[in-house]
Amino acid sequence: MYRVLILFSVFLISTVVLGHGDEDHRDPKTSQEVSLDEDGFEIISSGPSKDVLNQINEAYKKDVKSIFSNKCLACHGVNNSMPWYYSIPGAKQLMDHDMKEAKEHMDMSNDFPFAGHGRPLDDLDALKKTIDKGNMPPFQYKIIHWKSGLSDKEKKIIKKWIQESKDLIGSK
Ligand code: HEC
Repeated sequence: MYRVLILFSVFLISTVVLGHGDEDHRDPKTSQEVSLDEDGFEIISSGPSKDVLNQINEAYKKDVKSIFSNKCLACHGVNNSMPWYYSIPGAKQLMDHDMKEAKEHMDMSNDFPFAGHGRPLDDLDALKKTIDKGNMPPFQYKIIHWKSGLSDKEKKIIKKWIQESKDLIGSK
């Protein structure tokens, strides 16, 4: 029991002290990208086609979703099973805040493309970045849930999916 209490204090303190990561808050989602061609005319591109997004989603559901369900959806999706310490005063507020913020950034509740403020390609890039840096799930969550970090094997599967998705979208 002591061990749990100590861990819990570390969780609370680290949440308050460390705050959140250094991810950029990006512009609100736009469905269209507007750029100018050589003559100054607007080129409007509507992003990846539905077909491409479907293909990416199929691969996501096949290989990646089960990993994210275990390790990410607690914050980035629907979470029906809150841990026991959710009922401790203070913890509830902190965790609600984390879950709200996580979903604002990237909501994985309805598979790919994820909701939130990023376009599909931005989300893939942001995912790649957090996986390379190893900063998701957040530190304070990993120390409570010992096994919540991504294993090397899982990272490999996710990164393969990211690369294949980016190839499909046509971006390096
Ligand atoms: C304890 C809650 C929690 C868990 C679990 C969690 N995240 Fe997050 N995540 C957050 C919060 C809060 C943010 C927004 C603030 C920040 O960037 O730290 C975030 C942001 C992100 C972002 C940045 C999104 C953007 O728009 O830039 C990515 C990518 C991400 N998480 C991926 C993951 C992945 C992958 C997992 C599982 C391996 C995961 N997260 C697990 C809370 C969580």
